[in-house]
Amino acid sequence: MSDYLGYKGKRVVVTGVFSGMGEATARILTELGAEVHGFDYKDSNLSLASFTKVDLRDPASIEAGVAGLGNGRIDGLFNCAGLPQSFPALDVMKVNFLGTRHLTETILPLMGEGSAIASIASTGGLGWSRRIPTNMEFITTKGFQAGLDWCEANPETIDSGYAFSKENVIVWTQFLGAHLIKKGIRINCTLPSPTQTPMMAEFHAASGKDVVDAAAEPMGRYSTPEEQAGGLVLLNSALASIINGVVLPVDGGFMGGVATGQVDLSKMMKRAAPTA
Ligand SMILES: NC(=O)c1ccc[n+]([C@@H]2O[C@H](COP(=O)([O-])OP(=O)(O)OC[C@H]3O[C@@H](n4cnc5c(N)ncnc54)[C@H](O)[C@@H]3O)[C@@H](O)[C@H]2O)c1
Repeated sequence: MSDYLGYKGKRVVVTGVFSGMGEATARILTELGAEVHGFDYKDSNLSLASFTKVDLRDPASIEAGVAGLGNGRIDGLFNCAGLPQSFPALDVMKVNFLGTRHLTETILPLMGEGSAIASIASTGGLGWSRRIPTNMEFITTKGFQAGLDWCEANPETIDSGYAFSKENVIVWTQFLGAHLIKKGIRINCTLPSPTQTPMMAEFHAASGKDVVDAAAEPMGRYSTPEEQAGGLVLLNSALASIINGVVLPVDGGFMGGVATGQVDLSKMMKRAAPTA
């Protein structure tokens, strides 16, 4: 089989391999011939090149996980782990942004020209364009602890954590895209539509099924973890060699439908809580 995506023999790291999109991503990358190293705080049943228990809430655990990879080059990083808004806000901020950023910064010295990073953001973070100065202040904090100190000093801004954490994945991706490309490294993120994963039950409980269903239009169904993995695998592939700093909707047309008035947002607008 030809290797247009360029994953054969490539060393990649995937977080969140226990379930959902991360699990699907690791499985597909293995099928494409990549050497897949999985991180999660829960065990994985996948057959991977290596699996390491890493808790993204803990910088020491992240550093130990990366040290276990040795000094070999890392070609791709897939930041798939995340927590929904039902968890304590600071834990959500740690996993969805601070730990994800710390892992990326710890792995970056192992990356070089042609390497790529893809993270999962969320339409829940679309408020970013309303407060870029705040996002910029937060994402430019230096290191895990400084970022945590910022969160503790700004509880009203971080609120329940989910929307703010995802806003910052979006802004950080665009910001870093302009810097890492100088070294030939790309970074992008995705905006999934509602996806049938274990996290969905939490979104239904937090936002209401009717609100989540409204975000599944115009396709009229939830996406699968494999469909979301497809977007991530594409972004980090050789075929996407000029795609950088992009926030890619992987949503069956939701964002386009909203922009052109083809999706009825009234059900979503009735509630202020962030959706998936
Ligand atoms: N499911 C959706 O509809 C949807 C929509 C938009 C965005 N997202 C985002 O997609 C990403 C993947 O979520 P999913 O839907 O596959 O849910 P999921 O719950 O199946 O996967 C989340 C993964 O993150 C891991 N994880 C959680 N806390 C961790 C920690 N402290 N350290 C290491 N790993 C940890 C979990 O063990 C799990 O494997 C998340 O970032 C989520 O916010 C999901």
